[in-house]
Amino acid sequence: MISRIAPSILSADFARLGEEVRDVVAAGADLVHFDVMDNHYVPNLTVGPLVCKAIRPLTQVPIDVHLMVKPVDRIVPDFAAAGANIISFHPEASEHVHRTIRLIKDHGCKAGLVFNPATPLAYLDEVLDEIDLVLIMSVNPGFGGQKFIPGALRKLRAARERIDATGREIWLEIDGGVKVDNIAQIARAGADTFVAGSAIFDTADYSATVKAMRAELAKI
Ligand code: DX5
Ligand code: ZN
Repeated sequence: MISRIAPSILSADFARLGEEVRDVVAAGADLVHFDVMDNHYVPNLTVGPLVCKAIRPLTQVPIDVHLMVKPVDRIVPDFAAAGANIISFHPEASEHVHRTIRLIKDHGCKAGLVFNPATPLAYLDEVLDEIDLVLIMSVNPGFGGQKFIPGALRKLRAARERIDATGREIWLEIDGGVKVDNIAQIARAGADTFVAGSAIFDTADYSATVKAMRAELAKI
């Protein structure tokens, strides 16, 4: 199975963000994970479309926007215009989940649905055929550097079964507490796309860390 590493720039040095994006892509990142927080849906505040637009010319890799905002729809066209490739959102933050998925796709982006630790996968009963990515949160959203919640493994296995049953290409992404020493176990549960913030940006050599993650994934 193809594995993708998606460094979360939430843990980057924001005073040198452009350089950090270039460095992490040079280190082998497959995506740039872009965490958007609004101090309303989650208790933290980060960056918006202006910053997405600013980093867009620096890299060819897809920008994977993770919206932790409520409401969702107002800001979707702005991220599409700012060069986002994937836009994911939390179903609790949208009044009309199906409409939001269609909105994202109508703006030319791939659409992802995000599941908090306490959110059941039931939404997939209705919209799995419409989405391109399922994102399982293995921490409660809002902060980098939290500990992986083991219950996410069971949820990954359940999501993997549902995805495989469709026969469609739907990415299964995990976000929160992913490290070199647990990435293999997470992959075995079915994830193919791995967000890692502090595990990469808190190390001195991004390239060595990404390589160590890939070496773990190669063992599977
Ligand atoms: C948390 C964010 C994550 C975060 C992950 O709300 O969605 O993307 O940056 O950080 P780590 O990898 O440090 O847990
Ligand atoms: Zn995220």
